[in-house]
Amino acid sequence: MDKNSMLYQDIESELLITREKIAERVRVLGQQITRDYHDRSLVAVSILKGSVLFFADLIREIDVPLTIDFMQASSYGDSTESSGFVHIKKDLDRSIEGKDILLVEDIVDSGRTLSYLKTMLKKRGAASIRIATLLDKPEGRQVEMEVDYVGFIIPNAFVVGYGLDYAERYRNIPDIGILRPKVYQQ
Ligand code: IMP
Repeated sequence: MDKNSMLYQDIESELLITREKIAERVRVLGQQITRDYHDRSLVAVSILKGSVLFFADLIREIDVPLTIDFMQASSYGDSTESSGFVHIKKDLDRSIEGKDILLVEDIVDSGRTLSYLKTMLKKRGAASIRIATLLDKPEGRQVEMEVDYVGFIIPNAFVVGYGLDYAERYRNIPDIGILRPKVYQQ
């Protein structure tokens, strides 16, 4: 998608993270994960919907046998503020008992979503659970949350693109940008 696209009018003109930087970082994360799991296999779990682009790119950089599964949890609704409530909309298809799990998320903000999911999956008997997130907003943290692989640490702004949405829009922007406040203030 061209940067003159209409969608780019709703994000700040200075992009936060370009598609080139994303690709470079995803490659490095994939190499790191490959090294850490070199003698194992894993179940990569995409937390829908925001992580799908990151997930698709990341798993192609992980050079160990893996299977994939999907989960959907929601805590936001259509607002830019976390509701603090986590609801499972779609659960995993297969049992994870005894498996090494890599949870792949788009962004960690308050930390509530992942903390909830991690506790839940631990109770189901996973052998190990690690977390990979493309973005981390440490200033938004409300619960303590250990993240194993972080793409980029970003300031406390509302961002969209590369899978991240505002009211389900902007996921198809290939770069990551700060949403202009006029979009959610009108
Ligand atoms: P947490 O439970 O507060 O850590 O929220 C994580 C979820 O909130 C993410 O998976 C996103 O869906 C959403 N979220 C948090 N910050 C942003 C943002 O800046 N843009 C888009 N979605 C966000």
